[in-house]
Amino acid sequence: MNAFRIGQGWDVHRIAVGRPLILGGVTVPSEFGLDGHSDADVLAHAVTDALLGALAMGDIGMHFPDTDPKWKGTNSLDFLRHVVGLAQAAGYRIVNVDTTVILERPKLKDYREAMRESLANTMGIAVAKVSVKFKTAEKMGPVGEGRSAEAQAVALLESTI
Ligand code: C5P
Ligand code: MG
Repeated sequence: MNAFRIGQGWDVHRIAVGRPLILGGVTVPSEFGLDGHSDADVLAHAVTDALLGALAMGDIGMHFPDTDPKWKGTNSLDFLRHVVGLAQAAGYRIVNVDTTVILERPKLKDYREAMRESLANTMGIAVAKVSVKFKTAEKMGPVGEGRSAEAQAVALLESTI
């Protein structure tokens, strides 16, 4: 049993008109949202994969296949909550989580605290343990051209036993 384990997660979703923009469980006012089988919460997906990575328990698509109608439109915080349960069952608690959302627009900084609180509440940890950062892609590539949004996350777990 390792005292500490680190994991990383990354995700990308296509931008789509007529869909909500949900990041870390927070609906951000926007002319467009993200396409996906679930609610397309790219930030929650990256955090979920970071935790699964730290546990070496596969990835989000393995646990919640996007071919399964059961997960259509799912609140992605439910995925995250489930994986936090897996971590607890495996004898690990979350030390901290650090994330970056890469999206050209809209500006997200006014929603940072709401996203931190939403993710922290879902994981059952203090807000101080959750960092949410934002970057544009400087108008370059699919993110910069407004065609997609990406998120990255790292998570550190600590053994409870
Ligand atoms: O990508 P760039 O370095 O230009 O971002 C500058 C600042 O704008 C960052 O500190 C970030 O917090 C904020 N930002 C934002 N919403 C975005 C992208 C960046 O609030 N979609
Ligand atoms: Mg995803």
